[in-house]
Amino acid sequence: MEQKRERLSSRLGFILLSVGCAVGLGNVWRFPYVAGQNGGAAFVLIYLFFLVIFGIPIMVMELSVGRASQKSVATSFNALEPKGSKWHRFRYLAMGGNYLLMMFYTTIGGWMLQYLFKIIFGQFEGADAGQIETIFTEMQQSPGASVLWMAVATLLGFGACWFGLQKGVEKVTKVMMSSLFVIMLVLAVRALTLDGAMEGLRFYLQPDFSHMQQRGLWNVIADAMGQAFFTLSIGVGSMAIFGSYIGKDRSLTGEAINITALDTLVALIAGLIIFPACSAFGVDVGSGPKLVFVTLPNIFNSMAGGRVWGALFFLFMSFAALTTIIAVFENIVSFGLDLFHWSRKKSVCINIIVVIALSLPCALGFSLLSGVQPFGMGSTILDLEDFIVSNNLLPIGSMIFLLFCTRKSGWGWDHFIEEANQGKGRKFPKWARVYVSYILPLLALLIFIQGYVEKFFA
Ligand code: TRP
Repeated sequence: MEQKRERLSSRLGFILLSVGCAVGLGNVWRFPYVAGQNGGAAFVLIYLFFLVIFGIPIMVMELSVGRASQKSVATSFNALEPKGSKWHRFRYLAMGGNYLLMMFYTTIGGWMLQYLFKIIFGQFEGADAGQIETIFTEMQQSPGASVLWMAVATLLGFGACWFGLQKGVEKVTKVMMSSLFVIMLVLAVRALTLDGAMEGLRFYLQPDFSHMQQRGLWNVIADAMGQAFFTLSIGVGSMAIFGSYIGKDRSLTGEAINITALDTLVALIAGLIIFPACSAFGVDVGSGPKLVFVTLPNIFNSMAGGRVWGALFFLFMSFAALTTIIAVFENIVSFGLDLFHWSRKKSVCINIIVVIALSLPCALGFSLLSGVQPFGMGSTILDLEDFIVSNNLLPIGSMIFLLFCTRKSGWGWDHFIEEANQGKGRKFPKWARVYVSYILPLLALLIFIQGYVEKFFA
């Protein structure tokens, strides 16, 4: 029997849930270190440019497909495609993308939770830089702890889904996102008032294009585009699901702009916390993925009240990760509802088992499975999974959304624009038709190719 589709209780709930999905490790962990590696401010400018020209239109399309079909991406293309066409096969790529993302996200989310508790219980106190590095590597290399905390992150996420869309997902996300904003502002004020904060701020805000030349303009552009996709959660129907939970009283372009603006705000403020702190304590901003795990605890150690600030910082990180996990799990749970007409609780139970099992390779990729080095010496299963999602599924998926919404053989421009523009608020500009029909799909293709060039030939 067809169940009646659940709805979000308010517009605020919709915005916070969508922003909760967008704001995640991409903003608070990936953005600062990628910006650090790419020379700071000049990279940030390029990134902002791509968010606007790329991110917003594709997000409008995802939300429109979700709202018009009233389905998750598992069946939304079936509902909208012309009879006899094959667009619905995209579901495998899109669903696979959501699962694959979670296959490594739960492990990193688990690390954040572990760090939160390590700091609260004072495990970093008195440790020097070398010892902190050891704590991090030991954590990564402990198969028991990695699997346990990956499972904790997974259970917390599905726990919220268990209680329903409004009573679980929406409620929990509202509380976490509101706290996240408050904690973030407090941390930013603390970081900006540190002695020596200005130098970091300059690196972050004053473009210096010579840095960028060292790294190569194309590489910087490719990283900026990749980051723009990742941070907005576009390409695999992660955002589309929230379109299926709202009414038609607001136009979707306006909502996509709101979501993008809030997501960007969080990323920028995360930078305002991290870069001044790095310069104040003489820490290298180019240290890559371990930036927040290895470098930042040093800062909290040498800071008055560091244990409290550190705990707040990792609470911030954990909330960012958890709201994304909850939001993507909600999408995953709804696949079972849309495809097989399972009940919510049944879908939650089955997916707990599936996601934990699928997350094992990444969680064990630093210990029992560390022999698996897909990209050569020292690379990990996490790198492989991230590469498949970020460099393949996101650009290809985005291209499919673009084509589906602009081609007559798909859903078509007229249907798309009618759906996107329904309701109060900003309309999708008519002049953009050629741009989204031809230029953006080509750009997506270019990102896809460039991703390979950078990975294997640079
Ligand atoms: N945007 C999230 C982050 O910044 C990650 C994310 C959630 C995502 N859903 C997605 C990325 C779908 C790509 C596709 O952490």
